Amino acid sequence: MIKPFEKPIYVTRPYLPPLEEFCHGLQEIWENRWLTNNGPILQRFTQKLSNFFETDNISLFNNGTLALQIALQGMGISGEVITTPFTFVATTHALFWNKIRPVFVDIEPEYYTLDPEKVEAAITPWTTAILAVHVYGHPCKLNQLADIARRHNLRLIYDAAHAFGTEVGNKPIAHFGDLSMFSFHSTKLFHSIEGGMLIFREAGLKVMFDYLKNFGFKNEVEVVMPGTNAKMNEMQALMGIQILRYLEEIIQKRASITDVYRDRLREIPGIRLVPALPSEIKYNHAYMPIEVDEQEFGMSRDVLYEKLKEWNVFARRYFYPLICDFPCYRGISVNGNLTVARRVADRILTLPIYDSLELSYVETICEIIRHLHRKTLGEPTVNFAAFADYAGAPI
Ligand SMILES: Cc1ncc(COP(=O)(O)O)c(C=O)c1O
Repeated sequence: MIKPFEKPIYVTRPYLPPLEEFCHGLQEIWENRWLTNNGPILQRFTQKLSNFFETDNISLFNNGTLALQIALQGMGISGEVITTPFTFVATTHALFWNKIRPVFVDIEPEYYTLDPEKVEAAITPWTTAILAVHVYGHPCKLNQLADIARRHNLRLIYDAAHAFGTEVGNKPIAHFGDLSMFSFHSTKLFHSIEGGMLIFREAGLKVMFDYLKNFGFKNEVEVVMPGTNAKMNEMQALMGIQILRYLEEIIQKRASITDVYRDRLREIPGIRLVPALPSEIKYNHAYMPIEVDEQEFGMSRDVLYEKLKEWNVFARRYFYPLICDFPCYRGISVNGNLTVARRVADRILTLPIYDSLELSYVETICEIIRHLHRKTLGEPTVNFAAFADYAGAPI
């Protein structure tokens, strides 16, 4: 007999470092009385990330959205940018804030990233860049997108908000494309409460990004451009430094959770899992997406999503609706018919995954999903083990 969880199980729960460690770090902030404006802890955090990603071309921000906005502005992107409708709204908002026209194209059906063929077909004389998303931490079709960008002289920008910790061929995902933006929002597996990071190929962009995030100040008296305020503060940097130490452990725990989900859900009719990633990819296990086929499963994604709440399981429909269906973007042109993106947005459900989620809870979530499937098909849900005493007797 499966019982609803006593406490709600949300799709994610932020990782927190041991409280004593954080308090110890706070002492330094109290001693320094330096809370923001390129403080010593921010500088240390930047250095640690620079070592981690093996590059000096790095800039930290107070969130990922402003990081992406500033990236587009600093790189002088204009005109049209080809992008995905299957993402978090901030990807498109960053284009809007730079007066860039988003051109939405379809995604591929396996990992839900931008479909390179559709990208190529959407290029016009006004296209200046491709803005692709490593959605759920799944790497985009890196080689194909790089090839298109090179042949058409386009900038290749990755929204890597979900992809911290993902590697391809032993290289951090940030090594691909002209620039990658990472979000350190607390819903992410690696976070700094709120925060963002840019990693980029051209060293010359650093000074530009650093001006843009700090009002354009070059020194006390010179303002060289109309920048904004997008600086990361010392509390954020402290949280980031402390969580970075536990990154591997966090990813390992999430990997075990993925294994249980995949093992238990595989056999349930109407539940589609993402295919196993190629062996050269080290996945960060940022999300646990499933697709629900209404006919086979016996209930729609939306009904399953609501039913799960009755068991105290709060999955999320990331990403539904598609960005192009939000009223503010309805007037924007869509290239092609977005068949895959529409199908996926109608069927996708992301299940709870976070380092402290117990494996037994994951098993129970899978049991609930199996139970809901059987129930809709009118199959018996009795526990036949209870009849063990009557072994041999016809049931
Ligand atoms: C794909 C994607 N892009 C951009 C962002 C924006 O990042 P932030 O919340 O740090 O501003 C997020 C989420 O938070 C995201 O999921």
